[in-house]
Amino acid sequence: MSQWTIGVLGGSGLYEIDGLENAQWVTIDTPWGAPSDDILFADYGNVRLRFLPRHGRGHVLSPSSVNYRANIDALKRAGCTDVLSISAVGSLKNQYEPGHFVAVDQFIDRTFAREKSFFGPGCVAHVSVADPVCPRLSKLAANAAEAAGATVHRPAKDSHLTYLAMEGPQFSTKAESALYRQWGCDVIGMTNMPEAKLAREAELPYATLAMVTDYDCWHPDHGSVDVASVIAILMQNAKTASSAVKTLCETLSKTDRTTCAAGIETNLDVAIITPPD
Ligand code: ADE
Repeated sequence: MSQWTIGVLGGSGLYEIDGLENAQWVTIDTPWGAPSDDILFADYGNVRLRFLPRHGRGHVLSPSSVNYRANIDALKRAGCTDVLSISAVGSLKNQYEPGHFVAVDQFIDRTFAREKSFFGPGCVAHVSVADPVCPRLSKLAANAAEAAGATVHRPAKDSHLTYLAMEGPQFSTKAESALYRQWGCDVIGMTNMPEAKLAREAELPYATLAMVTDYDCWHPDHGSVDVASVIAILMQNAKTASSAVKTLCETLSKTDRTTCAAGIETNLDVAIITPPD
């Protein structure tokens, strides 16, 4: 086996990949409660894949009721070395068309009704999330999506691609959408925060492949987002997304895993402020 154990958080269907071996759904409990669902353990070549349906099989959990702490902790307990999030988003710029993928590298967290830290009374830690995405994993995932035939937007040199995380479950008002565009945000979604923050606290390299499903509600030539249009694009994209995961596994199985240059796997060494007893 290689040193990669890749965790994937995303919608159902993504794990329908031919070539998976030893596939079985495993129940993992955590001190934070139950994760969204069992985790699919499988091998692809010599890479271990751990797939967790973020909203549960059958999409039964709203973005605010996903237990993000349990999900990240369960993936850590499942042995993941890295976590890839595959998430539907609305586009806040003309050039990100429905069906495109965006390899975001920054987030603005506007969520407010979620548990956001593993730390609290008794043990306080402040991790840096200045660069919340692992550049190595993001690049590998973007390459894989491109190889699967997707149009992929990546951050240009010295610039960022920013995901605005909103609480939901309602979509944005036009005034909010206009504000996020003024802020320079690129895409909008409801799930990647606090996921990315928690992954950093769990010392797990995290990256997002955002799948554009709509133009939110700001675009003069497109109607306001609705669930039917989001689902229609997700269905069209399901094959590309699962083929991206497969290609990623193929690449990882040929790539030695070294520790992450950004120090993500050891970032708690300098983050815990409470002295030991
Ligand atoms: N997920 C998919 N499209 C979205 C949008 N427009 N706003 C928030 N989350 C989304």
